[in-house]
Amino acid sequence: MKKSGLFALLISFMLVLAACGSGETGGSGGSEDGGLIGVAMPTKSSQRWVDDGNNMVKQLEELGYKTDLQYAEDDVDKQIEQIENMIVKGAEILVVASIDGTALTNVLEKAADQDIQVISYDRLIMGTPNVSYYATFDNFQVGVLQATYIEEALKLKEEAGPFNIELFAGSPDDNNANFFWDGAMSVLQPYIDSGKLVVQSEQTKFEQGATMRWDGNVAKSRMENILSKAYSDGETVDAVLSPYDGISRGVIQALKGVGYGSGDLPLPVITGQDAETASIKSMIAGEQTQTVFKDTRDLAAVVVNMIKAIQNGEDAEVNDEETYDNGEKVVPSYLVEPVSVDINNYEEVLIDSEYYSEDDLK
Ligand code: GAL
Repeated sequence: MKKSGLFALLISFMLVLAACGSGETGGSGGSEDGGLIGVAMPTKSSQRWVDDGNNMVKQLEELGYKTDLQYAEDDVDKQIEQIENMIVKGAEILVVASIDGTALTNVLEKAADQDIQVISYDRLIMGTPNVSYYATFDNFQVGVLQATYIEEALKLKEEAGPFNIELFAGSPDDNNANFFWDGAMSVLQPYIDSGKLVVQSEQTKFEQGATMRWDGNVAKSRMENILSKAYSDGETVDAVLSPYDGISRGVIQALKGVGYGSGDLPLPVITGQDAETASIKSMIAGEQTQTVFKDTRDLAAVVVNMIKAIQNGEDAEVNDEETYDNGEKVVPSYLVEPVSVDINNYEEVLIDSEYYSEDDLK
């Protein structure tokens, strides 16, 4: 809410101060001689990454950096090629939101050979020592927010139940997906164990709920299967744990396909993440129930701070040095707070903070 706006303001203020600082000392590779920063993003097919890329470029260019922003359309080899090109073009620092977090070991070794430091953006790059920092949101907390929303919406603490829930997880090659799942299950598992929440499909494991590349169509097919196999006997779905808005919209399509959202069959409580405009519109239309807003302006500001620190030979500010082990090292991280959004607070969180205009949501 206000907190994220305030945070953005604080970060901007710090950036201005930092910019003035490097001006006074003549700056070494800082704002004035505008080094090239490579920004590798996974895909344009999801709105959030478009916003992430735009915010990074805007904030970096305001400080005089040059940028090379690339999207790989969820093609792992393409992303590797784009990163190789950034190295060849002389990028001083790489900011990478990986597609497959385990696939960048070789290319990042090439970066390290050229003394190029790497910042892992939102998703942790796995299995390499060649990543200096990780800027992300509190990913476990994202799952907690989604599951707590379900807990409150179904009044699980008070009601006897049982209620039916189906569980979706993110892409198995994205380390974040595990954190979202673990956060959510830290709230939901006790209710499943006690029988107050019933997973009629019996698909209760991460691997069963996983959605390759976070693809909404994959989620839609899985939900269609579940509905025909586990809900043809009159049982109805009361809640769906969805880790990401694209998945939520796919699930909603499947549900509407068999009559949910019309007559006397209401749509279940359905969570999400990223506050994509399509999902906020769905919320306004009474379909998706919740999402988790992650202010990409704040994340970009954190990354820009890390870039400045690296270029000034200083340690960047981090707030977590124990959670994110990529198999080779614990990567020093800065976690930004995610915010739960529903129909009651979307205007305050998204419009008052000028993340979206009212027109964006029409
Ligand atoms: C995750 C990210 C989420 C969501 C998802 C699908 O890595 O943390 O916010 O965007 O990817 O793109």
